[in-house]
Amino acid sequence: MRLSVIGCGYLGAVHAASMAKLGHEVVGIDIDQNRIDTLSAGQAPFYEPGLPEVLNEALASGRLRFSTDMASARDADVHFLCVGTPQKAGEYAADLTYVDSAIDALIPYLGEGALVVGKSTVPVGTAARLDIAIREAQPSAMLAWNPEFLREGFAVKDTLHPDRLVYGLPVGYAHTIAKAMLDEVYAATIKDGTPVVQTDFVTAELVKVAANSFLATKISFINAMAELCEITGGDVTQLADAIGHDKRIGRRFLNAGVGFGGGCLPKDIRAFMARAAELGASEPLSFLREVDAINERRRHRMVELTIEECGGSIRGKRIAVLGAAFKPDSDDVRNSPALDIAAALQAGGATVIVTDPQALDNAARVQPTLTYAKPIYEAVLNADAVLLLTEWSEYRELDPDSLAQLVRNRCILDGRNVLDPAVWRAAGWSYRALGRASAN
Ligand code: UGA
Repeated sequence: MRLSVIGCGYLGAVHAASMAKLGHEVVGIDIDQNRIDTLSAGQAPFYEPGLPEVLNEALASGRLRFSTDMASARDADVHFLCVGTPQKAGEYAADLTYVDSAIDALIPYLGEGALVVGKSTVPVGTAARLDIAIREAQPSAMLAWNPEFLREGFAVKDTLHPDRLVYGLPVGYAHTIAKAMLDEVYAATIKDGTPVVQTDFVTAELVKVAANSFLATKISFINAMAELCEITGGDVTQLADAIGHDKRIGRRFLNAGVGFGGGCLPKDIRAFMARAAELGASEPLSFLREVDAINERRRHRMVELTIEECGGSIRGKRIAVLGAAFKPDSDDVRNSPALDIAAALQAGGATVIVTDPQALDNAARVQPTLTYAKPIYEAVLNADAVLLLTEWSEYRELDPDSLAQLVRNRCILDGRNVLDPAVWRAAGWSYRALGRASAN
């Protein structure tokens, strides 16, 4: 099939390359010339394992090209809308400027019977509004809503082998045609056994924010238990293992620590609350306010714990922060707990040296006053405390004996509960973590 992918950010770049891998002819369109040049040269504009390979393979096959010109979408049968919906400055609601301007720009090029497929995360009700605009301009064109569930770090795998496909379909005759077109786009994935959930626009929009709200709630639930463990002397990692054995609960997304960040979970729960409030339905989502508050408290607790471990003050202390990205295998620093904590420690008078395998350039743009060091040894040299805040595999595997030779004070704070306390203590370190009393 001939596809256009509008918006070549995280979602769009991965989607365009992956769809070309599935055998479709794809044009990726973005207003950012630099991004288009980078992608056309076979380079990923962000760190995502596996993407450069898929991108280069697709470009070499001749099935993938990129352009800044919306007119190049003219011949496509299916147009994927993959633009961002960031949080509005100073409020919780999502900013739909990019969605609206992409649709306005696309409308003049919609051919007979073209299908527009929304993948962006939008407030419920957006699809119905766009559907009207599209059909007014081109009566034979159709809209479907097909939310995306990819995770950064696993984006290509999640696109090619998703847990499920969700089709929010229009009503009437268009329903059957839109479904058939989506089935054709995803034929290879469906053949692998991926379940397809067919529903309406509203449910499809809600599925996406409900999934992210559930994941955020799961993380904040275990972080609330971590707070209780800190007060009572329990161990949240053992608690998570124990409740996670119950298959109805499951162990995944029960890793306590400095909490969730990134460009999706924090923004999506806030936009969901804002939309519910607009609809006069704040009450059913009031728990999300607490989910958000618990998440924020974890960052403060990490700062407090560092102060405690530094003897009551961090003024003049040298603190090494391992990790800047919001999670490992990503160079994304949007709403990163690690960077937030590093900035708070610096504001408290500490000299903070941040290291990260991939995210230092992005981090330096967001927090230019922090000190950055690429090699781990440079970051930890003469440190009074070392904080592990993003669980990259190289930090999980650190050797406490070698690290001990470099630091001023053997103090490690494990913000992700990934190190073995017994091993670190045996090497003479003071080990502290969130959700575990000092002896645990
Ligand atoms: C999330 C969802 O997992 C995807 O399904 C969704 O498609 C995506 O948002 C999106 O809406 O685009 P992502 O933001 O890439 O994906 O990252 P996650 O793996 O969900 O992690 C989010 C945050 O939660 C990270 O900061 C991570 O460190 C934290 N986390 C995760 C925990 O603190 N504990 C856990 O047990 C798991």
